[in-house]
Amino acid sequence: MKSDLDTLSVVVVGASGDLAKRKIFPALFALYCQDFLPAELTITGFARSQLTDEAFRSRITEHLTCRYTPGEKDCAEKMETFLDRCHYVSGQYDSTDAFLDLFMHLQQYEPHSRTNRLFYLAIPPSVFLDVARAIGNAGFVYCGDASPWSRVVIEKPFGEDRDSSDELVQELSLVFSENQTFRIDHYLGKEVIQNLLVLRFANRIFEPLWTREHIKSVQISWAEQLGVEGRGGYFDQYGIIRDVVQNHLLQILSLVAMEPPNHLSSGTIRREKTRVLKDTRPVDMENLVLGQYVSAPAGAPPHQGYTEDETVPDDSLTCTYAAALLHIDNPRWEGVPFMLRAGKALDRKTTEIRIRFHDLENCVFCGPEACPHSNELVIRVQPDEAIMFRITNKVPGLGMDMETRDLDLQYDTAFSELIPDAYEDLLLDVIQGEKSLFIGSQELAAAWDIFTPVLHTIDENHVRPLPYPFGSTGPAEAMDLAVKAGTAWRQ
Ligand code: BG6
Repeated sequence: MKSDLDTLSVVVVGASGDLAKRKIFPALFALYCQDFLPAELTITGFARSQLTDEAFRSRITEHLTCRYTPGEKDCAEKMETFLDRCHYVSGQYDSTDAFLDLFMHLQQYEPHSRTNRLFYLAIPPSVFLDVARAIGNAGFVYCGDASPWSRVVIEKPFGEDRDSSDELVQELSLVFSENQTFRIDHYLGKEVIQNLLVLRFANRIFEPLWTREHIKSVQISWAEQLGVEGRGGYFDQYGIIRDVVQNHLLQILSLVAMEPPNHLSSGTIRREKTRVLKDTRPVDMENLVLGQYVSAPAGAPPHQGYTEDETVPDDSLTCTYAAALLHIDNPRWEGVPFMLRAGKALDRKTTEIRIRFHDLENCVFCGPEACPHSNELVIRVQPDEAIMFRITNKVPGLGMDMETRDLDLQYDTAFSELIPDAYEDLLLDVIQGEKSLFIGSQELAAAWDIFTPVLHTIDENHVRPLPYPFGSTGPAEAMDLAVKAGTAWRQ
């Protein structure tokens, strides 16, 4: 009897799409190059476009890289043997015949009649349940979790509010059990995000300070320089809160704010994350600033405004920027503002967490005017991964001047190892059945509860977002929100 990892059949539904080309196949290739995939491997792309195996292979080759197999000859050999295992089946997502074709194809290429199967659904939410049901009806899903297993990977958006998300969870569970379902939030696969628990719980200094007594505020900022750039068809239906804040930023918040897990099992970690999300007060309009970018100002490089994009309706009220002030009602965080902000078409690309500590009272060095600045822990997720701790230091010299300086861990100089793409880590975890980096259904429900009421208010009242120029820092009103929280946004 073959063991769990001896055989693997990966079926990527939506194989001709952008996500599959840019992320999924390159991640599979990276795992293949590092010998993380079993020798008995078959990869099948399934999508609506009519493609031959050859055309499909040449499409995916564009994005494969030799990061893990340097040397032209070795890399070319690896690519060839990898691509030999890749095949393509075309068909409509709602057609039973298409899935029968897929079934026949798998019978031909899968190494055993009972091969482990991983289905990656890289498809729009509108066809998502049809495809899951078709997979179930075609008899692709093994019962139970033992080998051979079937697992499904799904990408957000998981619904558009609490009810639609619950419905999706419920309908999908008729085909794949919760154990077989892997909901991806690719931020959880990013190196620095994975380090959050290590930083908090493998260092003696942080945990005693990680409370309201010492922490003044927590900021989580996400910024992109690009606008929607022709992706409005998807984005306009969702907006920045559903696209980024409700998932990526709340996931970061839950890792920053959760209680220590008793052990590292996925169940325990997810339970603690869910607990802190449940303790987070739903956001209301008072604590939210919404924006939509307009064209770049005169003199700046020209960029269209959001509604000028040809994939966006002229009268769209969809938000491309949101800043929110959140509160967590539990003893550790009572009264500490958690400031979240996310925006497209801003002045920089960054994802950053800033933990600001209270000012020091009764400091022997300070008169009323000369108090040292407060300590701050800055965790930069991207683009240049780093952890910095801002301290007050004596300026060298004969006097007693003080300045703030950073203890600075820059990943690119501190580590020689390659930083894997988030999808590499996440796909490996799916194959190994490890679920701590995936979103459980309870956690998903708790995250939706924080934003569902305000999203309904925005939609029902056609709330108009504030304009901000392309390439700026977002609406000025977001500054007022920070002032209200007794803090200021830090860059
Ligand atoms: C996706 C969002 O989840 O994350 C996109 O849908 C966003 O709107 C993307 O651009 C950003 O991902 P990354 O890994 O480039 O920060």
